Amino acid sequence: MDAGAPEREDRATKAVPRRVPAETPGDHARRRDRGFWSARTVAWYQRALERSDYAERVLDVIGPLLAGADSVLDVGAGCGALALPLARRIARVTALEPAPAMATALRATAATRGLAPVSVIQAAWGKVTLPPHDIVLCAHVGELTRPGALFLQEAARWARRWVVIVRDLDAASDKLFFGELYPALLGRPYRGRSDDRDVLTGLTGIGIRPEVATVEYRSDQPFTDLDEACAFYEAHLDVSGAEAQRFLRGFLAARLVREPSGWVAPYSKRAAVLWWRGTAC
Ligand SMILES: C[S@@+](CC[C@H](N)C(=O)[O-])C[C@H]1O[C@@H](n2cnc3c(N)ncnc32)[C@H](O)[C@@H]1O
Repeated sequence: MDAGAPEREDRATKAVPRRVPAETPGDHARRRDRGFWSARTVAWYQRALERSDYAERVLDVIGPLLAGADSVLDVGAGCGALALPLARRIARVTALEPAPAMATALRATAATRGLAPVSVIQAAWGKVTLPPHDIVLCAHVGELTRPGALFLQEAARWARRWVVIVRDLDAASDKLFFGELYPALLGRPYRGRSDDRDVLTGLTGIGIRPEVATVEYRSDQPFTDLDEACAFYEAHLDVSGAEAQRFLRGFLAARLVREPSGWVAPYSKRAAVLWWRGTAC
């Protein structure tokens, strides 16, 4: 990090009028999620994945659970962060993914890599009837894993061997500078989304005591230039307008790390992997 960064950031922060939205952070997150995934936002996600060791670290942990498994259902598979590497090890991978842009990207990558075992079903959990699979996996899908979510109760009935959930550890920890940007641009602290504690609370409430392991991985976000970085933050924070753009440009010029091919927002991430026995025959 640039030693002059805090000073530049403070100057920029003062230039932005702060507004406190009347909605809760949860409302904001849900509104943002509706239609959030487009070709552009999916491409950012894919570029971060290309340089991440996320799948490697998660597969290190769940490798023993996969032994002898012939089928995996990846619920909320996104663009295939886990479904694609799993398809190299498992005979049949079903990717359930409701966002059209995510499902399209996953189909395209599976075809390019010649991964025939991936079958993509464009639907949300509960909206289609699926056969049981050996493993039911759900990684970073907050709405399915928070306390009271039906998925937590139902998943075991669709898993012959294991249910596996991957969720952020401590969602309030800083993510890609959100901890600094939320107060400056949205007038409230960054609280993150649901995390592993929510999952554990939800599971304990229905009598499930999962095994838990922790993984650490890089989740850096690369950008070609500062214009692209500003567009990324405008989309993720749901802000727009000349003042927000000016602020973001100054902040990001000071805080992003320069690379030969552009800029990167560094992000070292921790997640919990939780698993318990399936009950399907
Ligand atoms: C943050 S992405 C995670 C993608 C992938 N599992 C990973 O670990 O990279 C969350 C994904 O869950 C999907 N999703 C959200 N609600 C869902 C639901 N009710 N059923 C299935 N998928 C859902 C979203 O469309 C999105 O692609």
